[in-house]
Amino acid sequence: MSNRTFTMIKPDATSKAYTGAILNQILEAGFTIKAMKWTRLTPEQAGQFYDIHRERPFFGELVDFMSSGPIVAAILEKENAVADFRTLIGATNPAQAAEGTIRKKYAASVGENAVHGSDSDENAQIEGSFFFSGLERF
Ligand code: CMP
Repeated sequence: MSNRTFTMIKPDATSKAYTGAILNQILEAGFTIKAMKWTRLTPEQAGQFYDIHRERPFFGELVDFMSSGPIVAAILEKENAVADFRTLIGATNPAQAAEGTIRKKYAASVGENAVHGSDSDENAQIEGSFFFSGLERF
């Protein structure tokens, strides 16, 4: 079991100025930041990141949304990071997310759901490497 996960604060949340509150909730839950950047994906980069969803009906919408504004990308560390972070953010669809979770508090819809969290140790490694070189993680 790895102690790292990868997250993005998505364009809906950065545009509503939720970035600080979301980062605060992540830190208060015991995660430490190992790498972080404020950036914006091109449509091509968003498509590459979410390549696993290319055949899904929502892929075009997902790419448009994820390239629509700035994001915060980060690698986070904590014991049991992948599972604990998914608990912290709540279900993909905020309507089904538990009370107090980041998506319940800050997400508007299943598409615009405020944050991403890796779904496995393997994907946490792949996704972190998509954004950060070895020199940018500590
Ligand atoms: P995320 O955890 O970043 O991983 C894949 C993303 O696809 C997901 O969050 C949602 O933003 C998006 N997504 C999943 N299901 C749907 C859906 N039914 N309609 C629109 N977007 C979706």
